[in-house]
Amino acid sequence: MTPDQLRSKYLNFFKKHGHAIVPSAPLVPENDPTTLFTGSGMQPMVPYLLGETHPLGTRIVDSQKCFRSQDIEEVGDNRHTTFFEMLGNWSLGDYFKAEQIEWVYTFLVDEVGLDPMKLYITCFGGDKEAGVDKDTQAEEIWLKLFKKRNINPEGRISFYGSDKNWWSRAGIPKNMPLGEPGGPDSEIFYDFGSELNLHEDSPFNGEECHVNCDCGRFLEIGNSVFMAYVKTEQGFKDLKGKNIDFGGGFERILAVMDNQQDVFKTELFSPIIKQIERLSGKKYEDNLMAFRVISDHIKAATFLAADGVFPNNKEQGYFSRRLVRRSVRYGLELGIEKNFIAELVPTIASIYLNQYPELDNQKEKIKNIFEIEENKFKKAIDKGLKELSKINQFTAKTAFNLYETYGFPLELSLEEAKRMGKEIEQGIESKFIDKRAAHAQKSRTASAGMFKGGLQENSVTTTKYHTATHLLQAALRKVLGPQVEQKGSNITEKRLRFDFSFERAMTDEEKTAVEQQINQWIKESQPVSKQIMEKKKALASGVMAFFAEKYPDEVSVYSIGPEGHYLSRELCGGPHVESTEQIGEIYIQKEKSASAGVRRIYIGLKN
Ligand code: SER
Repeated sequence: MTPDQLRSKYLNFFKKHGHAIVPSAPLVPENDPTTLFTGSGMQPMVPYLLGETHPLGTRIVDSQKCFRSQDIEEVGDNRHTTFFEMLGNWSLGDYFKAEQIEWVYTFLVDEVGLDPMKLYITCFGGDKEAGVDKDTQAEEIWLKLFKKRNINPEGRISFYGSDKNWWSRAGIPKNMPLGEPGGPDSEIFYDFGSELNLHEDSPFNGEECHVNCDCGRFLEIGNSVFMAYVKTEQGFKDLKGKNIDFGGGFERILAVMDNQQDVFKTELFSPIIKQIERLSGKKYEDNLMAFRVISDHIKAATFLAADGVFPNNKEQGYFSRRLVRRSVRYGLELGIEKNFIAELVPTIASIYLNQYPELDNQKEKIKNIFEIEENKFKKAIDKGLKELSKINQFTAKTAFNLYETYGFPLELSLEEAKRMGKEIEQGIESKFIDKRAAHAQKSRTASAGMFKGGLQENSVTTTKYHTATHLLQAALRKVLGPQVEQKGSNITEKRLRFDFSFERAMTDEEKTAVEQQINQWIKESQPVSKQIMEKKKALASGVMAFFAEKYPDEVSVYSIGPEGHYLSRELCGGPHVESTEQIGEIYIQKEKSASAGVRRIYIGLKN
């Protein structure tokens, strides 16, 4: 079965069961300031999972392009990729566990042809703290299905707690903000068999293997989330309509169809791998890491480019740059001297010609941009080499600077340092690795925060910026008029970016007035309070709502100012400071045009 056939089979199977087929949403979410990329199939569905009516009904199916920036460093094993497709079907308050479990099992066994003896199931074991019981309902449904097919159920279903079998965008129940939907899930794993040989360095050697242990024997291929709850101040409440959110790993299902553990050996990767073999004269089997990184990263960068994201230093573009530059480095490691990144683009476009023609349509433009980026990076490498030639002793610190500034792998700088006859610091390898690990941990934390949509992001600084966002909107409306409305926002540790509707550039006087107004409110120690209200009532009473449709029926409202004399009231999940003086002083960094009729303003915290 080809990838296109598998995708169509899935879409048509669920169409037969009353689902409307929808196209994949772009990799960069539209109008969603909380996250940089679409990282799962459910992301574009959030408003509907929270109760908004979907124009195509209550049963939806799709195959969604996904990019997970936080997985960049994970690429290299047999299954992790930054770009993937997620097969998804949704019940929006329509069918529930019985139908979902039966359909997905029937699809995998009867349509895809997987051996049912190789499929293992996990279910939710309960979470006392969250007040949600063990999912015996799902278990019973599975047992019935096994009985129908005369499958011995012993050992086939395992139960895990919230860390493994609970799904929400923020992870475990404890981390979910108020208003966030989630629920227990049931995952399907494919068993490659106990004879699997672990690599001698594998941390799983000597450990007892279990279905969800990640040693590689079992591969998760699908996850049905029973999205039945919403978190409120009183604990978990039933969502008005109980939803199903299924996510299936397209590349993984394609791999296990051939009992293949390596997703890079599927037709979704093999043409790229073959081309890299031709370009480098090296074999995939001897250079797994480099081949996997290059083929994954350039595929992801090509998909991002087709959705308008090109290499640069900002936000989404930063990840595109990392993908391309990492690939160039691995290319050098494989001994590819000439530029090669652009050459991979047509190969990638042809793999996805039917499903994603946008790659093929834009391939010339994408090739040009990648060519420029590769040249730029190679120039940076030259600069790095010059820097290296100036130093006397080659230390772990120099190695790390070269790594961070120019993307030099240690091996490259070490080789060059030796060639230049530099004195090498003792123990450089391990010192460098320690520095890099500390750095990777830091950047993982940062990108995870970004990815999770700020949902778990509640550092002191970002909390200050959250409250400053509300003050900014209120001040802009006061100074410029009530036509000002928030169009988007984004917070980092360093600044707040805020987009708002307004036709022209702000004058210097207006900017000063806004800045002074906010700082005055801050000095006045205005109290910040939170209430849970019915959404309708909140909106009727004039509370401001940015993307009102994304919020559930019961919402949290943050008000700034004394009761009855609020200066700002907004629907918001928080978190916020308790009193405005905790923000300290703010200043306007700049103000510019964002798009037609939309201005963009940046605010920083002094000190
Ligand atoms: N939301 C679930 C996941 O991403 C199922 O779609 O795994």
